[in-house]
Formats: sequence, structure tokens, C-alpha cells
Amino acid sequence: MTSVAGGSATGSLDSQIQSIRAQFPFFDEEGGSGGWIYLDNAATTQKPKAVLDALMGYYTRYTSNIHRGLYELSEHATESYEAARTKVARFLGAADPDEVVFVRGATEGINLIASSWGRFHLKPGDEVLMSQLEHHANIVPWQMLCAATGAKLRVIPMDDAGNTDVDAALEIMNRGRVKVLSMMWVSNALGVRLPVEGLVREARKRGIFTLVDGAQAVSHFPVNVAALDCDAFVFSGHKLYGPTGIGVLWARSSVLNAMPPYQGGGDMIRKVSFDGSTFAAPPARFEAGTPHIAGAIGLGAAVDWLTGVGFDRVREIDAALYEHCLRVLSDIPGIRRIGTSDGQLGAVSFYSDVAHPSDIASVLSVDRIAVRTGHHCAQPLMDRLGIPGTVRISMALYNSRADLDRLGKSLANAMRMLG
Ligand SMILES: Cc1ncc(COP(=O)(O)O)c(C=O)c1O
Repeated sequence: MTSVAGGSATGSLDSQIQSIRAQFPFFDEEGGSGGWIYLDNAATTQKPKAVLDALMGYYTRYTSNIHRGLYELSEHATESYEAARTKVARFLGAADPDEVVFVRGATEGINLIASSWGRFHLKPGDEVLMSQLEHHANIVPWQMLCAATGAKLRVIPMDDAGNTDVDAALEIMNRGRVKVLSMMWVSNALGVRLPVEGLVREARKRGIFTLVDGAQAVSHFPVNVAALDCDAFVFSGHKLYGPTGIGVLWARSSVLNAMPPYQGGGDMIRKVSFDGSTFAAPPARFEAGTPHIAGAIGLGAAVDWLTGVGFDRVREIDAALYEHCLRVLSDIPGIRRIGTSDGQLGAVSFYSDVAHPSDIASVLSVDRIAVRTGHHCAQPLMDRLGIPGTVRISMALYNSRADLDRLGKSLANAMRMLG
């Protein structure tokens, strides 16, 4: 049986969740959040003590800058920062830690690729293909690139349940103009899992560059970029029980080696003179300036923590919570689930014709229940669905079935008041 990091590997699912939850100071009865039920995990997750300790460890015991200091503290910081890169590489199944670039988050990773790779590879008439469900982070950078290069965005249609039309995607790719497939693996708005594996395979056969936005995937199932065989992959640390302000761009070394820098400054150079500069090899070439040292170390700790829990356990907890959430919602009149395709995970979205999503969230907030409402940075998806937004319940490993029961009670009350 897989072990639960810092907790018991045996016992009922509820007691295993309790032992995970006990590792998150946010839920401490004293000094924590004051009893909040936190169901906005697709936006950001709470942090386990192991991550907070790693951050505090750097800030209290060995704060110093990395890579250039020839004293022990700085060497320790450098080693910890680079060890985090190695942990992330292992976590993603990457061949080489030098393929891991630390960025601020998924957004910056996509911007980096669109800017450094896209600017030099796209021309008028080329197409960038994406799903209908994309987060703005995977739309706007490509739109900006299209405006600069004369390329065009193409969108793969989906059905009303949120299923991406694979045949339509193949038809678009077969026309020969698509140069980039950039798509999310799991929808933050609906919790739908997209057919990324098959589409990446088909795109690669046709010589199309592939980027996968794994922001909502990495905390739910194991990722192996070598097996996926994409060209680039991004995620954010803060949705993976890690710190904010740190994320990862992985790209195969042939891609990184051929890309010009994204930003100029310290640490990314080989030699600087007033006549011109030469640049370091990746990943340093893409990490200009002092990076988020503590963040990277904290992300390394988050990866260790989640690996310690194990993805078998993650799958079990995710499935139990998801099922329970659907059961709780099925008892509440006046709401309609949005996104009902198979293989959903993490998030459940619903809409009500009788109560506005923000009013529902406000009533829940009075009961100290945090859910997200609105377009979830996926306005084109909401336009396709013909709704202004949804109420989204998104779950993580520390959420209990009791949390969802309390949500159900509060939601029933909200619907009575507002309906
Ligand atoms: C699917 C997806 N992609 C990209 C992002 C952007 O992540 P960040 O804001 O951490 O850069 C998010 C954030 O919600 C997301 O859910």
C-alpha cells in the first residue's frame, strides 16, 4: 500500500484524509484559518508544513544568492535550488534536469514559449490550434503572437458536455496549416480531462509543435513528459501544494537549445561587453535575474510531499470526493451541472437559472465555505456554453466528505433564500 506522507498508510479513507489534513497548518484549530471549508483548490491549494518549513529554512538559515557566491551559505542555497530542479525533472519523467526552467507559473511558461519559440517559427497563414476550454493564460499569449506574426488561432470544437471533438481536430490538422497545438490537460472551469495524449501523438506525426498546459493535471495524476512526447509542458507550483510565484516550463532540450532568451539580465549570459553579449546554455538562458530561490526550494518540497502521498492514494481520494460531491449536489433543486463528460476530476461546476452564481457564493461565504464563481478565466468557454459563469467546487487531498456535506447544507439554504 502506498504511504501517506507523514501519516498512516492504513485505515479508512476518511482517516487517511484526516492524517493528510493534519499536515496543513491552515486547518489548525488554533492559529489556522478559523474553520474555513476550502473548496477553491483549482485556484490555489493550501500548503503542507513540509513546504512551509522548506521556505522558512531558506529564509531563516541560509538566505543568500545562488550560483555566484563562493561561500558555504551560497553553495548550500545553490545546491538546494538545483536539487529542486532535479526533483521536478524526476516528477515529470524528464530525461535531464536542464530541461526544467523555473518560471513564475504556467502563465509565464506559456508566454516564454510563445515569445521565444513562436516569434521565430510562425509566419502569416500559420495556425495555432487549441481547445474550446482553454484558460486565458493559454489563449492571450498566442493571440498576441498571432497579432505580431500574422498567424491565426484555430479552436477545436466541443460538445455541450465539454467533450473535445477529436475528429474535428484531426481534420483541422490535416489541412496542413497548424504549426502549434497548445492545450490544457484538465479544464480548470469544468474539471473535464481533455484527450491530450492522442492529440499530441497526432500532432507530432504531422510535425506540429506541442505544448501541454498541465496546471490542473499535476496534482491529480502522474505526468511523464517522455511518454507524452510533447515539446513543452507547463505548470504552477501553487496549485501543487507549493508556493506562489514559482512554476515550471519543461521543454525538450532540442527546443530549449534552439530558443533565444526571453529576458536579458544577470545569470543568463556567458559574456557581456558593450559591443554585444553571448548567452548561457539552458536552463540559465531563461532564468534572468535573481530567481525565486525560496519558491523553487518550496516547490521541491511540495513535489517530495505529493510523491510521498503517492498517486494511488491521490486517485482514491479524488474519486471518493468527486463521487460524494455529485451525490450532495444531486439532492439540491435548481442547479444544473455544467460539463458532464467522462473522466472528470478535481472540479465540479454548476449553474442555476434561479440564483446568480455570485449570490450563491456570498451566502456560502457567510458559512465560511470558499468556492469560486464566475468565468474562471475561460470566457470563450462560457460564451460557447451560453452562460456568464458557474459556481465551481474544486477539491484537494485534505477535503473531507464532511466538508462536502456542510457545503450541501449551506447550498440548499442558499437556494431556498435566493430561488
Ligand atoms: C488550466 C490553467 N492554466 C493556466 C493557469 C494559469 O496559472 P497561473 O496563474 O498560476 O500562471 C491556470 C490557473 O488557474 C489554469 O487553471
